[in-house]
Amino acid sequence: MRLENRVALVTGGGSGIGRATSELFAREGAIVVVSDLNEVDALESVQRIEAGGGVASPVTGDVSSSADAERMVRAAVDTHGRLDVLVNSAGVSGRNALPESANPEEVWDRVIDVNLKGTYLVSWYAVPEMERTGGGSIINLSSIMGLVGYPAGLGGGFNAYGPSKGGVLQFTRHLAVDTARKNIRVNCICPGYVATNLTRALTDDEDLLRDLEGRHPMGRLGRPEEIAYAVLFLASDESSFMTGAPMIVDGGYTAQ
Ligand SMILES: NC(=O)c1ccc[n+]([C@@H]2O[C@H](COP(=O)([O-])OP(=O)(O)OC[C@H]3O[C@@H](n4cnc5c(N)ncnc54)[C@H](O)[C@@H]3O)[C@@H](O)[C@H]2O)c1
Repeated sequence: MRLENRVALVTGGGSGIGRATSELFAREGAIVVVSDLNEVDALESVQRIEAGGGVASPVTGDVSSSADAERMVRAAVDTHGRLDVLVNSAGVSGRNALPESANPEEVWDRVIDVNLKGTYLVSWYAVPEMERTGGGSIINLSSIMGLVGYPAGLGGGFNAYGPSKGGVLQFTRHLAVDTARKNIRVNCICPGYVATNLTRALTDDEDLLRDLEGRHPMGRLGRPEEIAYAVLFLASDESSFMTGAPMIVDGGYTAQ
């Protein structure tokens, strides 16, 4: 098993890519701390892992709150003694960040707070714990929208999502350089469109779904498990010479 006895904290572990990653990690021998804003979803991920014979525990909280971010890391260390892997998967889009009544500036702030500041905050508390036990691996969820602009008519220029993911990519590089001599590797994944709750508003629209599929050379969206396998590689020792790197998993989207 590729993560035997490693302790992994997965934020956003109650849904989509975070859930698929949590389940895959558990199958690979990791003890998984599933963190999410949504308590019911976090518990369901834990139950699914336990039903498969794995070990997991839940922690609820908002990654954009410093106190909650600290509590997530503490939940891993106090319960399981250490923290070896952090996956920053908690994220929102402009569509699901806030109720529709919110104004554009409020949406901008929330998207940046969760996606960028949330990644920073949980990493802030995780790094000293990893250092204490000799190292670790942090995997951030960036996006193809952190690499390229939205196609005309999709997303728009005032959408905070792409800038938040570009920020995650740069944060990944800077933190990687800073922690490299502490044996802490920091990488990120840039997925193409993946069918999850995050993209449901898009994929529920048949015409939009066909359009999005057609924008990927492979002619389809990604599946959460396909991203989870890339996260697993970055979490495991197989990627031991990788740090500060974006890994693109996008069905060819950015190759065009
Ligand atoms: N789905 C895609 O097409 C896609 C593409 C590229 C990158 N990503 C990124 O991958 C990550 C996972 O996305 P997903 O598609 O699995 O989405 P998802 O909506 O299925 O899961 C995200 C999870 O994050 C949790 N969350 C949201 N705000 C939070 C907060 N403030 N604190 C703690 N938890 C919070 C949600 O409750 C949810 O369980 C996100 O960072 C997303 O931006 C997704």
